[in-house]
Amino acid sequence: MLSKKMQDALNQQVLVEAESSQVYLAMASWAEIQPGLDNITAFFYRHSDEERMHMLKLIHFINERGGFAMVPALAQPNLTYPSVQHAFRELLNHEIKVSESINTLVDIALAEKDYATHNFLQWYVSEQIEEEALARVMNDKLELIGDDKSGLYLFDRDILAVNVTGGGSVE
Ligand code: FEO
Repeated sequence: MLSKKMQDALNQQVLVEAESSQVYLAMASWAEIQPGLDNITAFFYRHSDEERMHMLKLIHFINERGGFAMVPALAQPNLTYPSVQHAFRELLNHEIKVSESINTLVDIALAEKDYATHNFLQWYVSEQIEEEALARVMNDKLELIGDDKSGLYLFDRDILAVNVTGGGSVE
């Protein structure tokens, strides 16, 4: 059984994951109307779906442990970006914040001696390591590319491999 404090904190994370899904959905929609960003667009759509999956996993966990997962209201995310670089920088910053909120949840689980929730959260801890690493690699590449259009073309082509394998690396 979840404590009230644990339940509230997990519900807060439902909001964080739902917001992440919305933010990346908006990035996808923006990228879709830019010329030549087909694979970047697909990446953002897929990332948005993954965040929804992260949210659903939390909802099921809360309800299965005797709590009640509350579907939150969402604010409208940022709709447009000055450049691909800006979008990916926001993605990295967003993931860093998500990692912080997962760490807070882990702290609460330990303080509450809720080892089942602590165990459940380890999946999110690993996922965040991967997501942050991927976002950093992408940001580094985009920084090198700068305003070079042919570099951006290659970046879009290379991101296809990430879409196919489901993440991990853009080497
Ligand atoms: Fe579910 Fe990208 O954090």
